[in-house]
Amino acid sequence: MSLKMRTSYKTLYLTFILSSICIFLYQYHMAIPRMISLQQQSINDPNLPPIYIITPTYRRPEQLAELTRLGYTLKHVPNIFWLVVEDAVDTTQLVTKLLLKLNIPFAHLLAPMPEKYRKNKVKPRGVSNRNRALEWIRANATEGVLYFADDDNTYDVEIFDEMRYTKKVSMWPVGLITKYGVSTPIVKNGTLAGFYDGWNGGRKYPVDMASFSVSVRFLLSRPNASMPFKPGYEEDGFLKSLSPLKLTEIELLASNCTEILVWHTQSKKNPNAMPLDTAKYNSTNLIQLRQIIV
Ligand code: UGA
Ligand code: MN
Repeated sequence: MSLKMRTSYKTLYLTFILSSICIFLYQYHMAIPRMISLQQQSINDPNLPPIYIITPTYRRPEQLAELTRLGYTLKHVPNIFWLVVEDAVDTTQLVTKLLLKLNIPFAHLLAPMPEKYRKNKVKPRGVSNRNRALEWIRANATEGVLYFADDDNTYDVEIFDEMRYTKKVSMWPVGLITKYGVSTPIVKNGTLAGFYDGWNGGRKYPVDMASFSVSVRFLLSRPNASMPFKPGYEEDGFLKSLSPLKLTEIELLASNCTEILVWHTQSKKNPNAMPLDTAKYNSTNLIQLRQIIV
């Protein structure tokens, strides 16, 4: 090959590489605004089925911290409606203030635990709250999906995208539960083959509250479905009240239950704060802070 020909091959080769880079950069540049606009569109997209997130909560030192963390997680989820139900007689002003600040569509409801259960050693936690939210959904919702999201758990936002299209009931694993470290449907050959949970208790559905979602239409087709005031059997009782429901109708999410997208985290219980010496700290910021701490 002559020197001249070799140079022209080189030039051709270089031109090809350079133009490929140019085309790639141009297309990348063009794609950025599209990616951003797709993201924004999905945040406001009214065509997405709504997710009704039901969160029981009650006044305690950790309450605002838990709701703040959960609230900022939920801000990443398009088309949600947050049902925050307080186990209290009056709404907590600081909770209302947080809800308004977060700017997520919400309803702030009240459902105190009935007095007769309050005396029990093991209380049915969050049950009156969840039943109140179910009542709200029956009165106000027609489509979408509902999910019981306790205020103290940890949620990967991916689970919300997945549960949104639930036909009847969807299920997935929850991490940090009992001595097994996880509570999950057992999946064999792509189908539900039982449940793996550290405590069975003779339950038909040995699952955690955070492990399933239910379609609103399906709930509405079961007018008597509700949650029993039976500690340890809340999930099982509620799911059984949705019958008839075939195990084969349960949709298995989180890549056929091979991923953990929800954790049953529990905050350390903090003792109530010591009373403030208001004489000593009069005319200081501590007077205002005293309204926030429990
Ligand atoms: C576990 C499950 O994850 C709960 O969904 C289930 O209700 C509970 O067990 C049970 O079987 O009693 P766990 O972490 O042990 O939950 O309970 P908490 O997180 O203390 O309470 C569950 C939810 O109810 C929370 O959102 C909490 O804020 C609320 N709660 C708790 C009340 O509204 N009132 C209470 O007196 C206690
Ligand atoms: Mn909890």
